[in-house]
Amino acid sequence: MKAITTATLKKWKQEGKKFASLTAYDASFASTFEAAGVPVMLVGDSLGMVLQGNSDTLPVTVEQIAYHTRCVRAGAQKALVIADMPFMSYATREQAFASAATLMQAGAQMVKLEGGDWLLDTVKGLTERGIPVCAHLGLTPQSVHQFGGFKVQGRDNQAAQQMLEQAQRMEQAGASLLVLECIPSQLARHITEHLNIPVIGIGAGPDTDAQILVMHDVLGITSGYIPKFSKNYINDHGTIQAAASAFVQEVADGTFPGPEHGFE
Ligand code: KIV
Ligand code: NA
Repeated sequence: MKAITTATLKKWKQEGKKFASLTAYDASFASTFEAAGVPVMLVGDSLGMVLQGNSDTLPVTVEQIAYHTRCVRAGAQKALVIADMPFMSYATREQAFASAATLMQAGAQMVKLEGGDWLLDTVKGLTERGIPVCAHLGLTPQSVHQFGGFKVQGRDNQAAQQMLEQAQRMEQAGASLLVLECIPSQLARHITEHLNIPVIGIGAGPDTDAQILVMHDVLGITSGYIPKFSKNYINDHGTIQAAASAFVQEVADGTFPGPEHGFE
């Protein structure tokens, strides 16, 4: 695999080449995923749930994400590594600059933040300072208490229209990528068609430019249940590398996600 950059992802969008992404939190999984051809890895604050056992992502700190980013970077030299900015680590622009600096110096090539218009100045400021940004709209888990639970977002027309406009403003502000989480498939398709930057979906149907899943769901080791939008690849593929390869292949050829993984 050649080193993946923001330019690579933009080119793939233009070519209509769909790509896969997984979360990763350590060097061993990162190198296995890289060997399987996973071009983008996210050091997600989902680690607060899948590694730490919390019921949401709020307890995660910048230092923890930085630690796991160093681990992932040590295992994966070619993949593009995105680091999540944790809850309240970007409440102000100055905080965002300091948090992003820590994560970039830990080996990330992009930072991801959750939210809409209140973040536009921050996104602009980060990109002006040389830090690529991935925006994240829809079900943004750091706002779970504001939402009143992990619920599909953008279901009514007004919310859908607002999300499209926010996505466009994020692109204008300089975002390089956009994650859409748990929104109706039709809305995700609409947003993807209206943006020049690549859109990565999770629970957002088949028509985004890319797909991301939490590695524990793909490997069937999430305690309790697998979310509707996810898929266990370990049962049919036996090894971790084969499971990751199958996911990469199924995203590339459009087999994943199927209609059963989406929301109407
Ligand atoms: O933290 C995470 O794993 C994420 C992805 C699910 C997009 O933000
Ligand atoms: Na996250």
